[in-house]
Amino acid sequence: MTVLSGQRRIWLTGATSGIGMALARRLLAQGHRVALSARRREALETLARGYPNALVVPCDITDREAVAEAARDIDAAFAGLDLLLHDAGTCEYLDARDFDLALVERVMEVNLHGALKVVDAGLPLLRRARDAGGTRPLLAAVSSAAAYLPLPRAEAYGASKAALSHFLESLRIDLAGEAIDVSVIHPGFVETPLTARNDFAMPMRMDAESAADAILAGLERRSLDVHFPRRFTYLIKLLGILPPAVRLRLGRRIAGRRRATQAGAR
Ligand SMILES: NC(=O)c1ccc[n+]([C@@H]2O[C@H](COP(=O)([O-])OP(=O)(O)OC[C@H]3O[C@@H](n4cnc5c(N)ncnc54)[C@H](OP(=O)(O)O)[C@@H]3O)[C@@H](O)[C@H]2O)c1
Repeated sequence: MTVLSGQRRIWLTGATSGIGMALARRLLAQGHRVALSARRREALETLARGYPNALVVPCDITDREAVAEAARDIDAAFAGLDLLLHDAGTCEYLDARDFDLALVERVMEVNLHGALKVVDAGLPLLRRARDAGGTRPLLAAVSSAAAYLPLPRAEAYGASKAALSHFLESLRIDLAGEAIDVSVIHPGFVETPLTARNDFAMPMRMDAESAADAILAGLERRSLDVHFPRRFTYLIKLLGILPPAVRLRLGRRIAGRRRATQAGAR
């Protein structure tokens, strides 16, 4: 059953920026009914302007009650969901010499626990659509290629995304019997406000519009693992299965190169 044929009922988080905003523009232009979430209401309203098929449902995904309220509003308007597309996320890099527990907790709170709150609130709406017939719902979330390979300074970000990917792959197994599919999206580097803060080279970086196209094509296939750009993600996957001693040597070399780049930039 195609994911995006006709007019689908979709909940998209992270719609105010970067990859999420590119996805929102595509989905709204295709005529789907799209519930748009992020914290910034005004940015959501600007995005929705001119689209009667848009529903603005701001929420902070770290606030369980706010997420539940957003889901109630969506259910009242759409009576179920064909696609839950969770994109919202954050990234902060750790300096392990000055270990910052608050930073690690912030990243986990958004990327892992926030995602779980969205799944908790959205799953009943997917079930409701399935029970009404005519749809095989899809739950999809944006993880990261960082989930495949531990990288320097990515202790918090990489672990939050690896945990999310692991959680969702398990969920795919358990929801298969319920006729609900799960896709996990693993992008490489994409040009967005999030990566504009990075102070290191980002190989094979792509623009947000191309990332949105790759995501929608992957969702159409209902793939468990939607990853792109392929040359980059296959390389990272390959490095991820190398023996641990080789991975560590590689990680130390990348860390050294980044320190040299940062020192040169100062
Ligand atoms: N860019 C990349 O290279 C890359 C690579 C791999 C994976 N990813 C993942 O792709 C997703 C989107 O990243 P991006 O690069 O497009 O980042 P971005 O431009 O910073 O956008 C992040 C989005 O998440 C929302 N958000 C952040 N914290 C939130 C919270 N607590 N509650 C609700 N919404 C929140 C933001 O909206 P508000 O500020 O309005 O809340 C914004 O819409 C993230 O999950 C990221 O980890 C990105």
